[in-house]
Amino acid sequence: MNQIHLGVGIACVVILGCLAVTQAQVTFVVKDGNFTCIKAELSAAISINYDSATGTRMKVVQLPGTATVGRNSLCGGNGSAPTLVMLFGDGHSLSLTFSTNDSLYSVANLTLQYNLSDTSTFPEANGTGLISMETTSVGIVARVNTTYRCVSASPVNVGRANVTFSNVKMEAYMTGEDLSPNESVCPADQSTTTAPAPPPSTTTSAPPTPNPPGNPTQGNYSVSNSNGSVCVLTRMALQLNVSHFSVSQKKTIQEVVNLQPNQTTSSGSCDATNANLMLSTGATNLSFLFTLNTTFNRYHLSGLSVVASWPDMEAPFMAKNNSLNYFSSTLGRSYMCSSEETLTVDQNFSLNTFQLQVQPFGLTAGQFSQAEECQQDQENMLIPIIVGAALAGLVLIVLVAYLIGRKRSHAGYQTI
Ligand SMILES: *[C@@H]1O[C@H](CO)[C@@H](O)[C@H](O)[C@H]1NC(C)=O
Ligand SMILES: *[C@@H]1O[C@H](CO)[C@@H](O)[C@H](O)[C@H]1NC(C)=O
Ligand SMILES: *[C@@H]1O[C@H](CO)[C@@H](O)[C@H](O)[C@H]1NC(C)=O
Ligand SMILES: *[C@@H]1O[C@H](CO)[C@@H](O)[C@H](O)[C@H]1NC(C)=O
Ligand SMILES: *[C@@H]1O[C@H](CO)[C@@H](O)[C@H](O)[C@H]1NC(C)=O
Ligand SMILES: *[C@@H]1O[C@H](CO)[C@@H](O)[C@H](O)[C@H]1NC(C)=O
Ligand SMILES: *[C@@H]1O[C@H](CO)[C@@H](O)[C@H](O)[C@H]1NC(C)=O
Ligand SMILES: *[C@@H]1O[C@H](CO)[C@@H](O)[C@H](O)[C@H]1NC(C)=O
Ligand SMILES: *[C@@H]1O[C@H](CO)[C@@H](O)[C@H](O)[C@H]1NC(C)=O
Ligand SMILES: *[C@@H]1O[C@H](CO)[C@@H](O)[C@H](O)[C@H]1NC(C)=O
Ligand SMILES: *[C@@H]1O[C@H](CO)[C@@H](O)[C@H](O)[C@H]1NC(C)=O
Ligand SMILES: *[C@@H]1O[C@H](CO)[C@@H](O)[C@H](O)[C@H]1NC(C)=O
Repeated sequence: MNQIHLGVGIACVVILGCLAVTQAQVTFVVKDGNFTCIKAELSAAISINYDSATGTRMKVVQLPGTATVGRNSLCGGNGSAPTLVMLFGDGHSLSLTFSTNDSLYSVANLTLQYNLSDTSTFPEANGTGLISMETTSVGIVARVNTTYRCVSASPVNVGRANVTFSNVKMEAYMTGEDLSPNESVCPADQSTTTAPAPPPSTTTSAPPTPNPPGNPTQGNYSVSNSNGSVCVLTRMALQLNVSHFSVSQKKTIQEVVNLQPNQTTSSGSCDATNANLMLSTGATNLSFLFTLNTTFNRYHLSGLSVVASWPDMEAPFMAKNNSLNYFSSTLGRSYMCSSEETLTVDQNFSLNTFQLQVQPFGLTAGQFSQAEECQQDQENMLIPIIVGAALAGLVLIVLVAYLIGRKRSHAGYQTI
């Protein structure tokens, strides 16, 4: 039996401020001697239902930045399958077992173990000891020699728990030290152009907002591809508008929250026709998907998803729509909108944008190209022009009337 060397590198998203729930992106490496066989960078939120003296309760655990690779991880071979075991907290673990058929590899099996004796995580739990649950419906499939990538949040149901992965980059059956630059992108990150976006509803009478914040601050967010050149460039001020069940008020409320640029990190990836921008504050993850239509040389924002774990929420909030059509513009131009725009994702979530300029695709030297302005900006520009033209016209009419009047009266005096 080969000796197994395990290494773990940890990359935490820096969390600032008073956010109650944080989400780390954690790196796991499984090695056999000097040979790296599995590498994974991911975030995971695990929601678990358990029985307590006061009935069924739900607990949400974020996979912490301190999670480590378990000693029972395997590179496999000789009848055993490659397995990544992620250990965290007081005896909890999440394991992924892989299988392959030479052209594809997949997660064959996800096993969640949690320790009900850990009363700080599971207060007043009826049972004690380790509970183990597994599922073979994980839905993680990739081509051999490619990195599985899934920025979007994707939930996996396992027994009485749900494991929601996000920001995943993972490869098994590796042939080198590092993740392959060739990627298999999950379906959720790919645009689906099946149905047109639902028209924004104008009749929704939402519950009153408890604390309307001021205008959001503009942030600069960009994505670079593997050779270091900028492939998505944006500057925008963002405001999230979320309807969710408030634990403290025991009713559904509408919360409007500004995204603070100085607490936000950006990441993402680009290929020829899809560009993904992910903004993360730890408590809030926003993912933008831009799609290029090569037939018409036009791009648009086709997908928007959010995962938020805010302090007053009963469960993490998720919303997603991959059939949007916003920011439509020409390849090689940027899209600009200084006016407020509301991007409706579903009945519970919309994103308000201000002072926005975005450009996916066709960037040269990391700079915005010539801008195409949104309809609202053009109308706003038109109003001062119309008012100005009207005033100038009025002045002219008065002047002409005066001159004519003077001439007439002059002529009049002479005839008398
Ligand atoms: C493979 O497993 C068999 C039986 O479990 C064992 O005898 C053999 O030594 C193993 N081979 C290697 C290379 O570990
Ligand atoms: C691992 O790499 C080191 C340095 O490159 C080398 O000395 C060592 O023999 C290698 N071990 C194995 C098991 O290949
Ligand atoms: C898991 O997800 C299912 C379907 O979305 C939901 O019905 C269930 O309540 C969730 N369970 C937990 C523990 O979050
Ligand atoms: C949990 O324990 C309490 C008190 O011991 C009991 O009343 C309740 O029925 C138990 N609940 C379950 C689901 O076992
Ligand atoms: C489960 O939690 C208890 C209490 O925190 C701890 O004593 C025990 O070692 C844990 N079990 C495992 C397998 O780590
Ligand atoms: C591998 O599995 C996939 C799906 O299960 C299948 O479509 C493909 O043909 C298989 N490839 C080989 C070489 O068996
Ligand atoms: C994967 O890469 C290895 C080593 O480069 C190669 O031997 C193998 O044929 C590749 N497999 C596929 C399916 O491309
Ligand atoms: C799932 O994986 C666990 C270990 O991670 C293993 O004990 C179990 O037998 C596997 N189940 C299936 C159905 O493959
Ligand atoms: C990536 O894919 C291309 C085309 O399939 C191939 O030529 C290249 O070798 C692959 N790179 C790696 C590192 O596997
Ligand atoms: C954003 O970028 C613009 C242009 O490059 C620059 O003027 C501005 O200071 C930047 N803002 C921040 C907050 O970095
Ligand atoms: C972030 O910016 C806000 C104002 O935009 C400021 O009040 C806050 O102190 C800043 N926080 C940090 C950590 O810089
Ligand atoms: C481009 O847009 C046209 C019209 O909306 C559509 O019919 C076509 O399928 C699109 N092509 C791609 C590659 O998305």
